[in-house]
Amino acid sequence: ADSVWTGASIGVDGHPDFMSKEIAEQPDVAARIVDRLAPHVLDGSLWADLALPRFDRVTVIGCGTSLNAGRMIGGALSSLGRVPVRTLVASEAADAVMEPRTLVLALSQSGETADLLNAIERLDLSRSSLVAITNNEHSTLARQADSVLTCDAGPEIGVAATKTFVAQVITGVAAALSALVASERMLRSDAVRHSDELRLMPELLAHAIAVSHEVLPSIVAGVLDEPGFLFLGQGTGVVLAAEGALKLKELSYRWAEHQPAGELKHGPLALVDRGTPVLVIDSGDPRIDRSIAEVDARGGRIVRIGGPGSTVPVVGLGRPAGPMAGARRWGPLEAVVPLQIFARDLALALGRDVDKPRNLAKSVTVE
Ligand code: AGP
Repeated sequence: ADSVWTGASIGVDGHPDFMSKEIAEQPDVAARIVDRLAPHVLDGSLWADLALPRFDRVTVIGCGTSLNAGRMIGGALSSLGRVPVRTLVASEAADAVMEPRTLVLALSQSGETADLLNAIERLDLSRSSLVAITNNEHSTLARQADSVLTCDAGPEIGVAATKTFVAQVITGVAAALSALVASERMLRSDAVRHSDELRLMPELLAHAIAVSHEVLPSIVAGVLDEPGFLFLGQGTGVVLAAEGALKLKELSYRWAEHQPAGELKHGPLALVDRGTPVLVIDSGDPRIDRSIAEVDARGGRIVRIGGPGSTVPVVGLGRPAGPMAGARRWGPLEAVVPLQIFARDLALALGRDVDKPRNLAKSVTVE
């Protein structure tokens, strides 16, 4: 979106930095997208209007945070619709074999990322459909795609992607639900539950922002001298863990690693020492408790996001038996909020420029 919006014409609106403003905007961004798309999910028309051929499998492709957003959407397609999904890191995609009837979901906030544009050029997409999920409908990516889903997040000036991640995931999940309904891979009754969850997102995100600002400052103050951070999750919680680690690295310049919780015992547990910060995204699978116990036994400092005894109780508004019960197969998207705020708070406490981290550009137009 750099070609359309510039920081010069957009202010921080009373916030200390753009990242703060963009984090705060997330509930409104979510509400705008949900209001626009939700009415077209259940009848499949959101998907039907893209006028694409039927697909048998999905390939998700992108870089950085956009790739993580794609992984969230891919997780929804495979867990809810049993669609085979493959994820490609754009810079590593050159030799990927494209099977016929593949739907390619290409994600890019800017739509100008060279790694992605070059991958698309090199891949043989002659028997595939290319859908762009982008925040810039005038971008090169949008022009090259068969169909475009615009994210409608508004300008994002901070180098760290925040609201565009949320916008990409909500847009993509809405489109995925609609596609599953249109292709009869999902019962309408199930689609109703999942689209209700989409409609709750603005409220869940607002709640997550409030809770994070309340709870995180004292936790961050206790980890300023820690050299490394571990992020754990399960299912799409692993993707959120990846996103949390990425935000922390790019903003604070501290080392961070993400792992599926079950992998801890296969090696990374050796990293955990007394005081090692371990952020755990609990997306509702009780097996996570075993990993937490392993960290606890080594004296690790657990920051649990969601679930029983949560340090940062943001997931699902703490309503395990409420309308969300059994429906959380693609989230918990709201868990990204404490990860963004944790990374920003830590970076600021270390004196970093959160809008312009060193060595990085907002839009990476070189390979
Ligand atoms: C995330 O905070 C980064 N700014 C980065 O990973 C970014 O998501 C990546 O460079 C992809 O950019 P794009 O969405 O514009 O393609």
